[in-house]
Amino acid sequence: HSGGSKRDFLAVTDFSAEEVLEVFKKTEELKKDRFRECFKNKAVGLIFQKPSLRTRVSFQVGVWQLGGQCMSLSPAEVNIGVRESVKDAAQTLSRYLDLVVARVFKHKDVVDLARYAHIPVINGLSDLHHPCQALADIFTVKEKRGALKGLTLTYVGDGNNVCHSLLQITSLMGMHMRVAAPKGFAPQKDVLNEVQALAKNAGSSIVVTQDPKEAARGTDVLYTDVWASMGQEREAARRARIFKKYQINKELLALAKKDALVMHCLPAHRGSEITDEVMDSSNSVVFDEAENRLHVQKAIMMKLLNK
Ligand code: CP
Ligand code: NVA
Repeated sequence: HSGGSKRDFLAVTDFSAEEVLEVFKKTEELKKDRFRECFKNKAVGLIFQKPSLRTRVSFQVGVWQLGGQCMSLSPAEVNIGVRESVKDAAQTLSRYLDLVVARVFKHKDVVDLARYAHIPVINGLSDLHHPCQALADIFTVKEKRGALKGLTLTYVGDGNNVCHSLLQITSLMGMHMRVAAPKGFAPQKDVLNEVQALAKNAGSSIVVTQDPKEAARGTDVLYTDVWASMGQEREAARRARIFKKYQINKELLALAKKDALVMHCLPAHRGSEITDEVMDSSNSVVFDEAENRLHVQKAIMMKLLNK
């Protein structure tokens, strides 16, 4: 492998706005015609330090549909950073594989994996970002609404990895974003600083508030995620009390635009951050988002492998 010029996808902002649109265009093509031979003789590794349904299955099926081979490794098999250093695992995997997708706890692990690997690395979720999710989500909005510029996405809940990646993609693409999170659960300062600059450049706005109603009023998209992310299970009961008012239910949905899209990255805790009623309503596009993970990730992989 030739090092130096390889590209990784660890955060949305690893791509420019033009590159995101290029990926979306490829995604549309792949959605119409799923099967290709462009990954013939390519091997992709998926490393999971946490559970996964969507990421695992959509990447694996995506690689198959492109004609490549794929394997998934759990902590029972590899446990990067524990059984051996991320640096050593990165160098070894580079001798076998053409591309790696990794789901890790610490974002630094995926950064180190990318630094020491000679092959492209895709972040399949870290504590800081979930970039594949954000691309699939905004591709879904574009599918449903045609254009993105000027639309408002409201995120209600924990200022977590999913929220951070949504902040990056909305500000990159000229969408407005509002975040309603309880005190102490707002998005990270350094992410906010970064996206404020992007939003300024794109002529859009970012609002962070503690009031879900204010954030939901007149919005085009209502988005939520679990109150306790993977690795925060011990905090779940405390968080459930703190986040009680941050539920997407029919009262909150009534404040949004009539045809507002309801989104959730899944898995959902029905009855906590979102009610059954809303999740199963005609506003909900949660399974379109899940499906689009497949198509958008194929386009991302093809871009990183110059296919
Ligand atoms: N949304 C998402 O990444 O789902 P999984 O955790 O099931 O992969
Ligand atoms: N914020 C959630 C997203 C799951 C796809 C988590 O990190 O567990």
